Amino acid sequence: MASSVFEKPADYRPAREVPVLFSAETIGQRITALASEIRVAMGQEFLIVGLLRGSFVFAADLVRALHRAGCAPQIDFLTLSSYGAAKESSGQVDMHRMMSDSVAGKPVLLVDDILESGRTLEAATVWLRDQGAASVEACVLLDKPTGRTLPIEARFVGFEVPPRFVVGYGLDYAGYYRDLPFIGVLD
Ligand code: IMP
Ligand code: MG
Repeated sequence: MASSVFEKPADYRPAREVPVLFSAETIGQRITALASEIRVAMGQEFLIVGLLRGSFVFAADLVRALHRAGCAPQIDFLTLSSYGAAKESSGQVDMHRMMSDSVAGKPVLLVDDILESGRTLEAATVWLRDQGAASVEACVLLDKPTGRTLPIEARFVGFEVPPRFVVGYGLDYAGYYRDLPFIGVLD
């Protein structure tokens, strides 16, 4: 197959050259602790809404940690995007796909890979409240507080990150690196 369909950005680096910020083991340990915090705060039953595509790896590990912590959540996904193929957010959040489960009356735990400006969480929270969610809390693996433009915080945070562009464990650059089992730094 012609490799041109997988053309990479000029600053693309092979995964083995991406410096590790959080190892797979460190991420796993933090997720176990996060699941306990969530179990205490949210109880056993709630609806998890993962924001695609970035949260898919985190959500998959988090729900299994929540199971081990004694929770029995429902799980659904919403597709939002604001980055395109760039390293800077476009500033506009597009909602591409609605969920299939009913939200009305349910406590919701929003799950995302990273909280930066706050626009993504804000848009998802407003939409879920409009759908009649009983409450909306957020859990993000990474928090980049230096990029915040809205007064939004996540109740549950895995790690705080510096103002760098991070990839791996679901986070991409131009569609690549989502498959890395660790969080790495690209810039
Ligand atoms: P916000 O809407 O500015 O809070 O940005 C959140 C979204 O931007 C996340 O769901 C990510 O998809 C993306 N994002 C923000 N920072 C990074 C990064 O360092 N690497 C990859 N994606 C990022
Ligand atoms: Mg995202």
